[in-house]
Amino acid sequence: MDKLLIEGGARLEGQVTISGAKNAALPLICAALLTEAPLHLSNVPHLKDVTTMLRLLAQMGIDVTLDERNCLTLAATGLNNPVAPYDLVKTMRASILTLGPLLARTGEARVSLPGGCAIGARPVDIHIRGLQAMGADVQVEHGYIHARARKLRGAKIFTDLVTVTGTENLMMAAALAEGTTVIENAAREPEVVDLANCLNAMGARVSGAGSDVITIEGVERLAGASHRIMPDRIETGTFLTAVAVTSGKVRLKRTSAAILDAVIEKLREAGVRISATEDGLEVESDGRLKAVSLRTAPYPAFPTDMQAQFMAMNAVAQGTAVVTETIFENRFMHALELRRLGADIEINGNTAVVRGVPRLDGATVMATDLRASACLVVAGLVARGETLIDRIYHLDRGYEHIEEKLSQLGARIRRVH
Ligand code: UD1
Repeated sequence: MDKLLIEGGARLEGQVTISGAKNAALPLICAALLTEAPLHLSNVPHLKDVTTMLRLLAQMGIDVTLDERNCLTLAATGLNNPVAPYDLVKTMRASILTLGPLLARTGEARVSLPGGCAIGARPVDIHIRGLQAMGADVQVEHGYIHARARKLRGAKIFTDLVTVTGTENLMMAAALAEGTTVIENAAREPEVVDLANCLNAMGARVSGAGSDVITIEGVERLAGASHRIMPDRIETGTFLTAVAVTSGKVRLKRTSAAILDAVIEKLREAGVRISATEDGLEVESDGRLKAVSLRTAPYPAFPTDMQAQFMAMNAVAQGTAVVTETIFENRFMHALELRRLGADIEINGNTAVVRGVPRLDGATVMATDLRASACLVVAGLVARGETLIDRIYHLDRGYEHIEEKLSQLGARIRRVH
């Protein structure tokens, strides 16, 4: 199993290009299921989760072509097997995003239940209830969600919790339903907007994406389209924290400050200088950062996917930070690993109190999930001596060539087999 070896202490300098967003790419790939015509996606990130999603679609009978310029063409003309099997779903919860489009297009879908995952229970009850409201007959049997509907009908859906993939699944299903669907308490994440834009380019009639009420007027059929995937705001944020802890100066290209307001505000509070450039951001920091307290919540508030990286930053900052996680019930596993590097963190339910220490010391640590892995990389970059991160397959699910991008900026990091 691959590991990452980091020798901390190098200042990050130079420029790096941010990849297309994982969390936009996955629903966009599923949108191809809605039409017979080809969907062309560019700026596709080279990630394990994307490969898994493409394998899933390929075994449903979809034609998948990926060229060397990261452009993907998906043609669901031959869609003949509307099934998402357990062995693929278990490695990637986002496979649930096939449920809505498959049902809307073929009238039937069998998608394995994703089950629990390291960061919490993460049920899919809201996805199921939404489809039922649209007239689907949904049975959960033998670990599979089996949904049927001759034709979905538009409905008014209020989601109890703000759910990102839930909103996306229902939006895709509603695009081909008969009549109008209104999703209230919808997720406002930029990736939801990216999906809505692509659906509209395919001929859908979606309005209100980016607000908490999304209206979808169903259409008979959708056409093909070409769409460029938005930049990855979590990869952007992860690089911002990495540069911040190493007192570096880096230009991040092909990204945008506009999708990261809450994160940028917190970094500025910590003492980091950030400015928008023509095609991205410039970040610079020096000296010890100030600890910043934060509370995760749905967009536009502080993203749960950046909580772990900020914990690494707070671990070496001046002062004490209180970090509250409100989205997932078990998302502090990285705190225990940070303690192995000498961090002073106390956990109480969904709150972590991080007392900044002057320095961390390298050690062997274990990645437990995707963003926890990113947190350990950030910590390893600032820790004294060598940090060896085990189980980095989590990292490969969501970060494109992370060690190459960091090496390019001067980090001493390499993959060991
Ligand atoms: C998405 C992101 C993930 C991010 C998360 C929160 C993708 C592919 N993944 O995950 O990176 O961390 O949003 O920003 O976009 N819930 C229910 N019932 C449901 C659905 C959700 O109880 O039917 C709960 C979840 O357990 C969680 C909360 O709602 O506590 C929010 O989860 P949700 O927004 O659905 O996360 P994902 O869409 O899976």
